[in-house]
Amino acid sequence: MRKGTGRTLIEWVPPVWNFRPGATLAAVLALTGCRRQPALTPQQVEGQHLYAVRCAHCHEDNDLALKPPPPSIHGAMAKANLPSGAAATDAEVRRQIIYGKGKMPSFSGRFTEEQMAALLAYLHTDMPTEK
Ligand code: HEC
Repeated sequence: MRKGTGRTLIEWVPPVWNFRPGATLAAVLALTGCRRQPALTPQQVEGQHLYAVRCAHCHEDNDLALKPPPPSIHGAMAKANLPSGAAATDAEVRRQIIYGKGKMPSFSGRFTEEQMAALLAYLHTDMPTEK
């Protein structure tokens, strides 16, 4: 390294290192996270909780012993179609949550806009369940 340029090494650290620590941590977690349990964003974590308290008793446990059992919806929104064949879009799933479908009850007025957005964000993941 040449001396006498008047610049210290630290000034040459490229701006790419100026990430906020939180963003860097999230990126590292996203890259290194276990495939089966990828790190969820805070919004997805909120959706995960809503799913756990409002949806999982049917969709995971079928506590009402419905026949046929409620379909598994894990990863459903990553595909083009839902188990019923309906389009796997936010608009369609939001409509089904609000109006219900078959034996699935209506959740009209049960979720705020923010909660609905969180739920949908979580449904787009492969839906790791709460521990
Ligand atoms: C009382 C049990 C019950 C609860 C609670 C419930 N579901 Fe369902 N859900 C069902 C049943 C039954 C179906 C199948 C409906 C059909 O296709 O006739 C279904 C279907 C679905 C589908 C797939 C629809 C399709 O077109 O294939 C999605 C997505 C879904 N539910 C999401 C949710 C979410 C999100 C919640 C919580 C907010 C929830 N469900 C709560 C019983 C339930």
